[in-house]
Amino acid sequence: MATQADDGMTSRAEAAAEGTECGNAGSEAGPSGRSTLLVDKHKSYIKSLDNDTATLDYQLTEHLRMSGVYWGLTAMDLMHCLHEMDSERVVKWVMSCQHKNGAFGGNRDHDAHLLYTLSAVQILALYDKLDLLDGKKIAAYVVSLQQEDGSFAGDEFGEIDTRFSYAAILCLSLLNKLHSINVPRAVDYIMQCQNFDGGFGVAPGLESHAGQIFCCVASLALTGSLHRLDRDLLGWWLAERQVKEGGLNGRPEKLPDVCYSWWVLSSLVIMDRVHWIDQKALQRFILDCQDEERGGISDRPDDMVDVFHTYFGVAGLSLLGYPGLKAIDPAYALPIDVVEKIVRSRRTES
Ligand code: FPP
Ligand code: ZN
Repeated sequence: MATQADDGMTSRAEAAAEGTECGNAGSEAGPSGRSTLLVDKHKSYIKSLDNDTATLDYQLTEHLRMSGVYWGLTAMDLMHCLHEMDSERVVKWVMSCQHKNGAFGGNRDHDAHLLYTLSAVQILALYDKLDLLDGKKIAAYVVSLQQEDGSFAGDEFGEIDTRFSYAAILCLSLLNKLHSINVPRAVDYIMQCQNFDGGFGVAPGLESHAGQIFCCVASLALTGSLHRLDRDLLGWWLAERQVKEGGLNGRPEKLPDVCYSWWVLSSLVIMDRVHWIDQKALQRFILDCQDEERGGISDRPDDMVDVFHTYFGVAGLSLLGYPGLKAIDPAYALPIDVVEKIVRSRRTES
């Protein structure tokens, strides 16, 4: 998916071609002096997470380790540093979290969930190890979670959420098994979650929220259904998420937050409306949220950093064409070269 390279910003494709080195990149001036992406610092921060098992942060996030590993590794790959991680150890650990039915838990001996199954599949995609998976088995698990109305439950407890529709659709797209589910019904259900303002919520009739909008727009992109969107109406709502500090919020009246540089921006990129926001101001906001000493990126300037916001900050910069970063695919939430390799290998198989 191509972005508009206006306002003097480097296009994502150019940026990807430019930077293949693992090191500091870019030099866009910002108000706080935090004007460059501190690649070396972020790299050290992400690596340090592996050893910080005694911290409260680590304990509190133990149940979602699979997604944390996906965030950290994808950020490393976008910064051209994935090879510095121990791939064998990671892949072994991922596979140790798999259940008999093919689904994955958030950690070893944790319950299976669609969101962690997606993260596991994404990690294996990053490492070009999808062949370790029994695609049919995982597809059967995903199919078992689709409801009559086309929606998806996240696990056997039955909570319904448009996040799970996206997780199901992306997971099966990566495994080349999208045809296993009832795609027209999944798409119809997503369209039922659209509101009068053009946005989407967790379920029909629920408030528009940029995180859910990302899930719905990316799902429509992955299923070839973008024609069902009024891109101008939704693009307007999304562009309105930019606040005076340059950052984006997830709903009206909320504070800006770096993770919305992903949820909002990827939706705008998919709909070809990214030029509707001030991209330079957003870039400055993300760079302002870096911890210059420890590395990592926080939700807002001078807050505590975490791997979630570090990933979405780097991913947002990638969408903006920040020099030296790999380009990321806005619907797959994986580097474009990873997605292209998967699609290419399918062509040679058939
Ligand atoms: C905001 O969450 C974000 C969402 C609701 C979308 C989450 C989507 C997924 C987990 C699907 C997988 C995503 C990728 C990129 C592969 P929040 O709880 O931070 O919202 P808040 O700002 O309202 O608290
Ligand atoms: Zn956030």
